[in-house]
Amino acid sequence: MSILSRIAQTKPTILVTGGAGYIGSHAVLALQQAGYGVVVLDNLVYGHREFVEDILQATLVVGDMNDRPMLDRLFATHAIAAVMHFAAYINVGESVTNPAKYYRNNVVGTLTLLEAMLAANIKKFVFSSTCATYGVPKTVPIPEEHPQDPINPYGVSKWMVEQILSDFDTAHELKSVCFRYFNACGADPEGRLGEDHHPETHLIPLVLQAALGIRDCIKVFGTDYPTPDGTCIRDYVHVVDLATAHVSGIEYLLNGGDSQAFNLGNGNGFSVREVIEVAKQVTEREIKVVECDRRPGDPPALVGSGDRARTILHWHPQYSDLSQIMAHAWNWHQKRHGNGVIG
Ligand SMILES: NC(=O)c1ccc[n+]([C@@H]2O[C@H](COP(=O)([O-])OP(=O)(O)OC[C@H]3O[C@@H](n4cnc5c(N)ncnc54)[C@H](O)[C@@H]3O)[C@@H](O)[C@H]2O)c1
Repeated sequence: MSILSRIAQTKPTILVTGGAGYIGSHAVLALQQAGYGVVVLDNLVYGHREFVEDILQATLVVGDMNDRPMLDRLFATHAIAAVMHFAAYINVGESVTNPAKYYRNNVVGTLTLLEAMLAANIKKFVFSSTCATYGVPKTVPIPEEHPQDPINPYGVSKWMVEQILSDFDTAHELKSVCFRYFNACGADPEGRLGEDHHPETHLIPLVLQAALGIRDCIKVFGTDYPTPDGTCIRDYVHVVDLATAHVSGIEYLLNGGDSQAFNLGNGNGFSVREVIEVAKQVTEREIKVVECDRRPGDPPALVGSGDRARTILHWHPQYSDLSQIMAHAWNWHQKRHGNGVIG
């Protein structure tokens, strides 16, 4: 019996869509630790069955949020108090070449889920939005009031859901928390869960894969940005801090909180070169760096103000130190991929 299965459920049951994925699985762990019951819905297209069944030992419904009859059965079978919605496609580049895939899954799928919730009289919803809804920022750190002007279909799909949620509040009193994450990173400090996307597009796992020899090198896209070292600056938020915010978001809604959007960012950024340097220090390995041209659509700096989440949700990130983030991610990657050079 796992330690988790011995934590008694003292609070309502939350449906976590995409709970077999990277951020969703960490949120399931945080919910369990806070005493909530959890039902995971995931189609396992990108999720990991073993995260839910073996590590978290949560109830897993394998299904697609576009399947309305399945959703109706799920809500009839389980007494769900609120929904935490992580399920989405997340690859920005793919969203540019195949926008229909993103609008169908991220927008139509979410609409199907919301309609099924209303039919079951469930009106609390926590949504994984993104800083990509801001587009190219005019001010940094970015506050929530900053205009939303996404520049790719992935960002537009998330922005559209935020609009739908605003309209559903007006029409149906469905209350939502939209969390606009900056760069999710790190892993469970105890190494039980971590980041394993296929394909991987995020800097920290890519640089660690280079350290492990799974990749030849790490590519740096653009070294002539108007930043101190010429490379892009991003705000790296530990996945455990994201998960903690989600539990606070659920509690806020269950306590009668009104619909609200919150940035989840630390308010300070690290450049690509800084991330690579920290990776070299933490892994104590050589990492080959290849400098390339800029990619279209990459803003020089994306850093979020988390003041609203701190004030209203009392969110206090525990792991804003980049070395610690890297150490947790490195521990996970070594466990997942083996310690040696894979080739
Ligand atoms: N990773 C980041 O840095 C980041 C940043 C901003 C926002 N987000 C958002 O956070 C959420 C989680 O991201 P992640 O990195 O954990 O991604 P992930 O791919 O690891 O997890 C998403 C999960 O959703 C599942 N899923 C997708 N479509 C589904 C469907 N139609 N029905 C059921 N399950 C489905 C996948 O199988 C996967 O397990 C996403 O909504 C993403 O847009 C992530």
